[in-house]
Amino acid sequence: MHPMLTIAIRAARSAGDQILYAMDKVGQLQITHKGNNDYASEVDRNAESDIIHILRKAYPDHGILAEESGGHEVNNDYVWVIDPLDGTTNFLHGFPQFAVSIALKHKGKIEVGVVYDPLRDELFTAERGGGAMLNNRRLRVTKQPGLTDSLLGTGFPFKNEQYLDAYLGMFRTLCIESAGIRRAGAAALDLAYVAAGRLDGYWEIGLQEWDMAAGVLLVKEAGGVVTDFSFRDKYLESGNTIAGNPKMHQAMYLAIEPHVTDDLK
Ligand code: IPD
Ligand code: CA
Ligand code: CA
Repeated sequence: MHPMLTIAIRAARSAGDQILYAMDKVGQLQITHKGNNDYASEVDRNAESDIIHILRKAYPDHGILAEESGGHEVNNDYVWVIDPLDGTTNFLHGFPQFAVSIALKHKGKIEVGVVYDPLRDELFTAERGGGAMLNNRRLRVTKQPGLTDSLLGTGFPFKNEQYLDAYLGMFRTLCIESAGIRRAGAAALDLAYVAAGRLDGYWEIGLQEWDMAAGVLLVKEAGGVVTDFSFRDKYLESGNTIAGNPKMHQAMYLAIEPHVTDDLK
C-alpha cells in the first residue's frame, strides 16, 4: 500500500472516531452559520485539526486544502484535500449518513483517496492505478447499460439556488427515465457508492473540491467515468459532476446536457 494512503487512513479513522463520540452530544454543539444553508460545528473543526495534525506530522512540507481552515501552501507539488465531515447537516440532525474524506493531489493529479463512514465502519480507499477497495474487498462500478432500471444519486443545489431551475430540468428527465433517485446528503459517500456499485450513477451541481476529490478517484479506480457537464475533466474546478459506469455516464450526460446553462458549462 502507498505509504501516503496509510497515513490518510490513520487520519480518517481518527477523525471518524471523534465524530462518532460527538454524536451523542449533537444538541450541545456550537454551530456556525457559514453561508446560505451552510453550517459547521466544533466537531467539523476538531476533526479537521486532528487530520491536519496527523498529516503534517508525517509530511510537514505538504500543502493543505481543508474545508474549515482553507488553503495552506497549496502551490506545493503535494496537496492534501480534506473534508473532515461530509454531510454536516445530516450529522447535526442525527441522520446517519456522513463521512470523512481525504485525498492527496500530486501536481494536480489525485493520487490517493479515502472516504470513511464511521457509523458503518466502511473504509473506501483508492490509489491511482491501483484500484479501489471497500475494507478488504475490491470495488467495481455496476454493469447497468442505461437509465432504464437504474438507481441514481444526486445532491440538490441548496446553497446555489440560482441553479435550481436548470437542476429541476435535469431531475425531471432523470426521474422519468431511471428507476429511482436518492439524495442521501454526503457527496463523498454518493461517489463511493457509485464505485461500490450501490448506485449506477450520480450527478450534482456546484460541489467543492474537498467534497469530491477522494470520491472521484474511487469511481475511476472502480472502472467508472467522471466528467463535468461539458464532458471534460474540469469537475474539480467547476464542481459540476457526472459519475457512473461508462454507459451510465454517457446516458446521464445526454439527459443532463439539454438543461445545462452557460454558467454551468
Ligand atoms: C455537502 C454534502 C452534500 C452536498 C453539498 C456539500 P458538507 O458537504 O456533500 O451532499 O450536496 O454540496 O456541500 O457541507 O456537509 O461538508
Ligand atoms: Ca462536503
Ligand atoms: Ca464538511
